[in-house]
Amino acid sequence: MKPLHFSYSKYTKKFHMPSLGLALVLLISLVSPIDSCTHQERDSLLQILAELGLAVSWRRNTDCCTWEGITCNQDRKVTDVSMASRRLQGSISPFLGNLTALLRLNLSHNLLSGGLPLELVQSSSIIVLDVSFNRLTGDLIELPSSTPAQPLQVLDISSNLFTGRFPSTTWEVTKSLVVLNASTNSFTGQIPTTPCVSAPYFAMLDLSFNKFSGNIPPGLSNCSKMTLLSAGHNQLSGILPDELFNVTSLEHLSLPDNHLEGPLNGIMKLTNLVTLDLGGNGLNSNIPESIGELTKLQELHLDHNNMSGELPSGLSNCIDLITIDLKSNYFSGELTKVNFSNLPNLKKLDLLYNNFTGNIPESIYSCSKLTALRLSHNQFHGQLSEKIGNLKSLSFLSLVNSSLTNITRALQILSTSRSLTTLFLGFNFMHETMPDDYTIDGFENLQVLGLNDCSLSGHIPHWLSKLTNLRMIFLLNNRLTEPIPDWISSLNFLFCLDISNNSLTGTIPSALMDMPMLRSDKIAPNVFELPAYDKIPSLQYLRPGAFPKVLNLGMNNFSGEIPKGIGKLQTLLSLNLSYNKLSGGIPQSLCALKNLQVLDFSSNHLTGTIPNTLNDLHFLSKFSIYNNDLEGPIPTTGQLSTFPGSSFDGNPKLCGPMIVNHCGSTEAGPVSIVSTKDISTEAIFVIAFGAFFVVGVLYDQIIFVRYFG
Ligand SMILES: *[C@@H]1O[C@H](CO)[C@@H](O)[C@H](O)[C@H]1NC(C)=O
Ligand SMILES: *[C@@H]1O[C@H](CO)[C@@H](O)[C@H](O)[C@H]1NC(C)=O
Ligand SMILES: *[C@@H]1O[C@H](CO)[C@@H](O)[C@H](O)[C@H]1NC(C)=O
Ligand SMILES: *[C@@H]1O[C@H](CO)[C@@H](O)[C@H](O)[C@H]1NC(C)=O
Ligand SMILES: *[C@@H]1O[C@H](CO)[C@@H](O)[C@H](O)[C@H]1NC(C)=O
Ligand SMILES: *[C@@H]1O[C@H](CO)[C@@H](O)[C@H](O)[C@H]1NC(C)=O
Ligand SMILES: *[C@@H]1O[C@H](CO)[C@@H](O)[C@H](O)[C@H]1NC(C)=O
Ligand SMILES: *[C@@H]1O[C@H](CO)[C@@H](O)[C@H](O)[C@H]1NC(C)=O
Ligand SMILES: *[C@@H]1O[C@H](CO)[C@@H](O)[C@H](O)[C@H]1NC(C)=O
Ligand SMILES: *[C@@H]1O[C@H](CO)[C@@H](O)[C@H](O)[C@H]1NC(C)=O
Repeated sequence: MKPLHFSYSKYTKKFHMPSLGLALVLLISLVSPIDSCTHQERDSLLQILAELGLAVSWRRNTDCCTWEGITCNQDRKVTDVSMASRRLQGSISPFLGNLTALLRLNLSHNLLSGGLPLELVQSSSIIVLDVSFNRLTGDLIELPSSTPAQPLQVLDISSNLFTGRFPSTTWEVTKSLVVLNASTNSFTGQIPTTPCVSAPYFAMLDLSFNKFSGNIPPGLSNCSKMTLLSAGHNQLSGILPDELFNVTSLEHLSLPDNHLEGPLNGIMKLTNLVTLDLGGNGLNSNIPESIGELTKLQELHLDHNNMSGELPSGLSNCIDLITIDLKSNYFSGELTKVNFSNLPNLKKLDLLYNNFTGNIPESIYSCSKLTALRLSHNQFHGQLSEKIGNLKSLSFLSLVNSSLTNITRALQILSTSRSLTTLFLGFNFMHETMPDDYTIDGFENLQVLGLNDCSLSGHIPHWLSKLTNLRMIFLLNNRLTEPIPDWISSLNFLFCLDISNNSLTGTIPSALMDMPMLRSDKIAPNVFELPAYDKIPSLQYLRPGAFPKVLNLGMNNFSGEIPKGIGKLQTLLSLNLSYNKLSGGIPQSLCALKNLQVLDFSSNHLTGTIPNTLNDLHFLSKFSIYNNDLEGPIPTTGQLSTFPGSSFDGNPKLCGPMIVNHCGSTEAGPVSIVSTKDISTEAIFVIAFGAFFVVGVLYDQIIFVRYFG
């Protein structure tokens, strides 16, 4: 049989199976009573059924060609077993190998365990074998090299629990192989190149998310038809071998998050590249002028490397570019060499954390499809151009630490953008005044606003009240004065407000207790166009895609009592009222904030006792009432008892086992006792809160907007 030529996306179409309903209708109309599947085929299927515990309509006395997921040919022999996403458990039956006409077997997205039977890999009929997204384990077995040539063309074993080295001889007999997807397993050792030697039509190799190590083998140069090589998230090291650059058929080269080094010059021979992803490696060269040879390039990811030098003018030749991601490198110089007018399809430009200088190049403003522009933390300077209004699709703009001046003008220019949802302008406009006038009008769709660390004077401006889509506001580290305005509660979607380290005054308004998003358990969505932090592990205690709900009023001049209504903010994750002049007691109602993970009331003038009900806050991982005037015993059981003395210190009338002042004895205990107590407390602390580390990391990220860039 002639092996097929196709791309991975096409083969799914090619082998597209009719939907089940349609298949049944067709089959039932074709089937005559005599014309039924062979006993042998049926018995094999039933045997498989027995091993899988399959709860489907497979019955002994019916024609197996009419069974769900089964397709037969004209000779009434089974050609397709299509049982994806059926919650199948148990192991894959070797009896499948008895279906001698079987062409396509799809068992993906089930709960299958055990190994991959040799009978399937060495089947003399199967051309498409998909067992991806299961729990298959063990090593892949070597086939004897005497095995006759296999017709297998597509093998997808991705997203399983396979281990061990990749067998080499197996691929010598799969001469028809076109696609091999082994990603997301735990394979070790060198990356295999044997399919390249024996399979002349081999086109796609996906080995990403494994534990492959060693160099990229030169043997890949034998893959002369290869269009896709994906081996990101492994432990590959060394330089990219020259031989790889001979595989000019490559369209997608994706090797992120390895330890690869070396210059990029050779890559420019791969003139068919559409995707080039070498992010998160140890590359330390510059981008050669010859990048202009890659005229089909759409995705360029060289982020998180040690690359340096200027961006070459050659980049302007890559006219199909959609994404340029160069963040976290040492690139420098002005951007003037690149003519962005030549990149009309550019959607994302991310230059965060580099050393670029000069003005933002005018030519960027002609990229009318640009949706995300992040230039933060470089050495750009100059004014914001009015031409930024030309970017009609711009949704994410981050110009943190760009020496911008005249905040009034900047906000006037940007407020006219109807597409803008996220705006980070922190560390600019030093010592200017927050504008509060009618000339700031617009920002209809703004959801996230970062104007932190600008040492701005003035107050929380009234124009904010009109931005009814706001979800997150970062105004920390400024010099704003006056009280929090009552209109704050009219921002219906606001779930993150950080106004810490200002000079705000007055009481904490009860309006704040009415903020709808903090009261409802509506999920706080991920609002960022660009991943705000892309190297952070996923969260354990938040729903995926959710953002923590945060209220940070710390380091201001707020006075008066903590409002009793605080208990209404039921879905708050972090509450920080530290370093203010708050007096009165800790409200009992706090115990209603069941999701709270961070509670900081330190350095205020709070009095009274610690309500026992705070022990109900089971998720609390950071807690401080340090430096107040609280009194009485610290609860000796429950959540609060797990925090160290430093959470409670500075309250002379407080007593408890973790602080110097023990209850029942006004004298401080001997130092030795204190220190043994400390050790045991610490041990409990470690055990109880190890699990919260991940959330801690995230929380810090949220707070320190500089990481958003
Ligand atoms: C069916 O497969 C099993 C397991 O591989 C094998 O032992 C048996 O001989 C096969 N039966 C036939 C009729 O081929
Ligand atoms: C297997 O079935 C799943 C679900 O229907 C489908 O997404 C996948 O493309 C199929 N695999 C192959 C190789 O066709
Ligand atoms: C390989 O499989 C993974 C899922 O396990 C999928 O995300 C990836 O896109 C596949 N690779 C290719 C080249 O299709
Ligand atoms: C690349 O291919 C050329 C021509 O086919 C050949 O001369 C050269 O030796 C190859 N280079 C490597 C490193 O394999
Ligand atoms: C990048 O360079 C710095 C020194 O300039 C070095 O310490 C670091 O290890 C390098 N990073 C990688 C990933 O090679
Ligand atoms: C940049 O490219 C545009 C369109 O291709 C062209 O009109 C313009 O002259 C170029 N600018 C420079 C400085 O080369
Ligand atoms: C950034 O560039 C300046 C000169 O423009 C240089 O002094 C500085 O060392 C560079 N910083 C890095 C991290 O490369
Ligand atoms: C800032 O820009 C505004 C126009 O938006 C202008 O009226 C004002 O004079 C500028 N301020 C400074 C200090 O340049
Ligand atoms: C508070 O903000 C000011 C700028 O207004 C800044 O200089 C200072 O470092 C900040 N303090 C802290 C503790 O972050
Ligand atoms: C509370 O906010 C203050 C001021 O911003 C900060 O110093 C402190 O670390 C925060 N507390 C916690 C637990 O994050």
